[in-house]
Amino acid sequence: MTESVDRRQFLTRLWLGCAGLFVGAGLWTSWDLIKPLTATGFGGKVRAVSPDAVPESGVLEIRAARAYLTRDADGEIIALSEKCTHLGCRVPFCQSSGQFECPCHGSNFNRVGEYRAGPAPRGLDRYPVEEENGLLVIDTGSTIEGPAPGGESIDEPATGGACAEGTHG
Ligand code: FES
Repeated sequence: MTESVDRRQFLTRLWLGCAGLFVGAGLWTSWDLIKPLTATGFGGKVRAVSPDAVPESGVLEIRAARAYLTRDADGEIIALSEKCTHLGCRVPFCQSSGQFECPCHGSNFNRVGEYRAGPAPRGLDRYPVEEENGLLVIDTGSTIEGPAPGGESIDEPATGGACAEGTHG
C-alpha cells in the first residue's frame, strides 16, 4: 500500500514536472511574439497607423508620438520629431507653404524635416519606425539626429504663404 502511494505520488510529480517544462518551453520560445511593448506612449514605442495611411507627399501627425509620418524621396516612411532642434518648440506643418514652420523663432524645414532657414542648427530629429503586424510602430525612445543643413533630398519648394509670422526663408 505504501509503495503504491509512493509510486502514485512519484508519477503525479513527474507528470506535473513534465507539464511545467512543456509550458515553460512554450513561453520561452514564444516570448518575442507575446511580450508587451516596453511602453505604449511617448518615450517608448507608439503604435501608429497602417503604412497605407501615410500620404505620398504630405504629412500625418501622430499625436501620441509627438511626431509626423511622411515619405522620403524614395517613398520610404520616416518619422519626424515635432520638436524644433533650436529650443524645442512644437513645430507644426503649414499646409499652405508645404513646410514645417516653427512659431517661436521662425526656423523652417521642408516636408521631410530638412533644414531650410532660421536659427535651428539642423533638420528635425527622427525616430526609428518599423512595421509590426500591419501597423507602424514609432520608437520615440531613440532619437536619430536630424540632417545637417545644406542640401535637400526632395524638390518641393514652399508652395504658398507662410503660416507662422516671422518665418525665415
Ligand atoms: S525653437 Fe524653433 S526656431 Fe527657436
